[in-house]
Amino acid sequence: MPTGSVDVLFSPFSVKSLDLPNRIVMAPMTRSFSPGGIPGQDVAAYYQRRAEAGVGLILSEGTAINRPAAKNDPDVPDFHGDEALNGWQEVIDNVHDAGGRMGPQLWHVGSARNPRTEWRAPGPIDSPSGLSSPEKKFDEPMSDAAIADTISAVGQAAADAKRLGFDTVELHGAHGYLIDQFFWSGTNVRTDRYGGPSIRERASFGVEAIKAVRDATGPDFPVIIRLSQWKQQDFDARIAETPDEMAEWLVPMVEAGADVLHCSQRRFWEPEFPDIDGENGLNFAGWAKKLTGATTISVGSVGLSGEFVAAFAGESSRPASLDNLIRRMEREEFDLIAVGRALLSDPLWVHKIRVGAQAELKDFTREALATLY
Ligand SMILES: Cc1cc2nc3c(=O)[nH]c(=O)nc-3n(C[C@H](O)[C@H](O)[C@H](O)COP(=O)(O)O)c2cc1C
Repeated sequence: MPTGSVDVLFSPFSVKSLDLPNRIVMAPMTRSFSPGGIPGQDVAAYYQRRAEAGVGLILSEGTAINRPAAKNDPDVPDFHGDEALNGWQEVIDNVHDAGGRMGPQLWHVGSARNPRTEWRAPGPIDSPSGLSSPEKKFDEPMSDAAIADTISAVGQAAADAKRLGFDTVELHGAHGYLIDQFFWSGTNVRTDRYGGPSIRERASFGVEAIKAVRDATGPDFPVIIRLSQWKQQDFDARIAETPDEMAEWLVPMVEAGADVLHCSQRRFWEPEFPDIDGENGLNFAGWAKKLTGATTISVGSVGLSGEFVAAFAGESSRPASLDNLIRRMEREEFDLIAVGRALLSDPLWVHKIRVGAQAELKDFTREALATLY
């Protein structure tokens, strides 16, 4: 809980056509409450509650692009087909009626399996090299035709997002899913133009995906890509070991049309290159902003005592101080801050922070994952 002013969190921010009333972003969180891939009225009401309570920008849970194996859970919403898109229309209309702004997170899981379900997607698994993690070969690499169709499905989803009235769109390029599987040398051993020893080469797929989104949405529509060094397959994995490598990874994406880099960490305060600027040095979003000049979003354990992977194993978290976050935002280390579990368990979190109702902040417990309130 903050001991000083929270004003910096509540200052407006603009990027392209998106005007935000404050700096707080709802982090994308898979809820698996969309049976058969169709988001219903309960999903719309869930997002509407967060908009009503003042979240600056809502990013949806990951939602599947139009490829047969884009998702690994039947209850994850689709972002294609009339029925699913009608559901999303209701979501964005409800959010707008409540004064909010929102973008869908476009998702393809690639070769990542879901340990929580036996369900298997109705089609071949897409992955750069048929690897689910380093050395774990399970299938053939994606063909050129599969890559082209995937890029085109990304573009179509972005066009649909804009047509439905969403304010932005985020590509899920993090956490060891398809786009990140191309970035990571552990899962991309291709020798064609989508692979190679340098991160610039392995970034080609992500770059083409961003270009497809930009082409589909025009010059003024804000485009976000979410990125992470860590992978669910390996928390210690890193795409960029140095600032130079990080620039080689990120600059091409900004040049391709990404306006906002959403830099995922499990704990936002961890320094990215402590050998260079110390234990209180810039985090991932800080370095990304410094190296590219783009708008950046940070994330990871904001307002909570424990991090989110442990939450899946049942660990609870208590409300925690926002002072470090506020200091970093006052220094303009990054522009926006995403909040996950605190907003999942409490739709009123932003309102409570704004009015200083610290005593009313809730713990995060695993039970919150079981309902869509
Ligand atoms: C239930 C749950 C589902 C998540 N699903 C997604 C997802 O679909 N896409 C994504 O990029 N991150 C996902 N994440 C990660 C969050 O966006 C966020 O980065 C993480 O929870 C750290 O933020 P927090 O500590 O504020 O919760 C999920 C996290 C949780 C707790």
